[in-house]
Amino acid sequence: MKHIFATKSLDLLLEEMAGDHRLHRVLGPVALTAIGIGTIIGAGIFVAVGAAAARTTGPAIIASIMVSGVACIFAALCYAEFAAMAPVAGSAYTYAYATLGEVFAWIIGWDLILEYTVASSTVAHGWSHYFQNLIGMFNLHIPEALSKSPFVTDPVTHHLVTTGTLVDLPALAIAALVTVILVLGIKESARFNAVMVVIKLFVVLFVIVVGAFYVNPANWHPFAPYGWKGLSFFGGVYNWGMVVDGLPVGMLAGAGIMFFAYIGFDCVSTQAEEARNPKRDIPIGIIASLLICTVLYIAFAAVLTGMVPYDKIDIDAPVAAAFSHAGLPWAQFIITLGALAGMTSVILGLMLGQPRVLLAMSRDGLLPKSFFAEVHPRFRTPWKSSILTGVAVATLSAILPLDTLLQLVNIGTLLAFVIVCLAVLVMRRINPNAVRPFRCPFVPVTPILGALLCFVLMLSLPSGNWLRLLVWLLLGFVIYFFYGRHHSVLAKMRAKEKH
Ligand code: ALA
Repeated sequence: MKHIFATKSLDLLLEEMAGDHRLHRVLGPVALTAIGIGTIIGAGIFVAVGAAAARTTGPAIIASIMVSGVACIFAALCYAEFAAMAPVAGSAYTYAYATLGEVFAWIIGWDLILEYTVASSTVAHGWSHYFQNLIGMFNLHIPEALSKSPFVTDPVTHHLVTTGTLVDLPALAIAALVTVILVLGIKESARFNAVMVVIKLFVVLFVIVVGAFYVNPANWHPFAPYGWKGLSFFGGVYNWGMVVDGLPVGMLAGAGIMFFAYIGFDCVSTQAEEARNPKRDIPIGIIASLLICTVLYIAFAAVLTGMVPYDKIDIDAPVAAAFSHAGLPWAQFIITLGALAGMTSVILGLMLGQPRVLLAMSRDGLLPKSFFAEVHPRFRTPWKSSILTGVAVATLSAILPLDTLLQLVNIGTLLAFVIVCLAVLVMRRINPNAVRPFRCPFVPVTPILGALLCFVLMLSLPSGNWLRLLVWLLLGFVIYFFYGRHHSVLAKMRAKEKH
């Protein structure tokens, strides 16, 4: 049993990096920052911000975005320290293995599936909605039977109900397209991502600059109609703030929701093995992409809430409706295009991260190596696990209702951030003299504040998420005890050393 807490030494990690059968080192700082921006800006700012402002925060969504951004910046500094120290594909999974032990690493790897696969399925679902809007502008329509998932959750009874359709074809198609690009090569993926990023940055800047002329500052009053709080401690045992329809509302509750918009900067760390100079460029990619997006988000939210009174924000298409309301209906096309490009690159970035974490886990023996660690001889991509990820995303987004799963994404990713912040503290203790090409500033204050803020955001999410997270983690434990524990490469090495 003892070995389940065994840690993988930094020396061993670095030694493994020298082995062959690794990924292709082609990415520079600009490509890495673009992958970060590509994965960050998407459904969060084009869709979720409207619903959150209307129902949870009012114009105080601007403050929610700032609070969530600060939590992410602390976490990003911790990610950057680790990624520069141990530039391998596993991201938070690897950092946990090097500091907290195998079982924690497994749990984080298992938890990251929530972030990467489930989040990309959700975004693919949203993509389908926008895609149908776009072709609808040209009077084109997808047959009803192929236009949405056959099951949805009834918002009142929370039971699964059928919609009478067969499949969400556009969601399936985008997952398939992204999978093909990912298998073809990291260079091809980075190029495709760059095009999407240019389009979406243009549209985000368009919204900010043009929208600014239509802002009416009176719309920012009252600034926080739902209050500044909104924390719900486990199951609503105690709510600190207002509750509407059983859910906490207020600025802090909004910060927990808007966290979704920041998910993605951490994906840059999964590309450490494909970076030309990971020790310098991965920290640049993580921090630069996050800072750029934070500034854009604050301006975007200020413009949106300044253009429309918060209680009149359209939940389905907040930005396009705001522009129509301002007398610019033609902007709808540009905004829809930007949202589509944005969501495409988010799906790409998240689906890029998942196989790389699985790759790292399988190299350690916690998942079957013959499948997950297979790097394509010509494309140098983890092709089998990329295809498996694609099939999972396509199936989830095309057939299943995602509302329940979506809520798991934020809490699961926040948990990974808390662990990475704590892991930095542990690593500074157990390996104080290790070479750290990037040092997180103000340790221990930054990691402690990062872990605390992310934990507070976990608390601000509706309490049912804690239960679902627990069930997911328990399932992970069961798999670990039946498979990973017996196949762990580290455990085998230790057993050999003993004899
Ligand atoms: N941050 C990503 C988005 O907002 C997940 O779509």
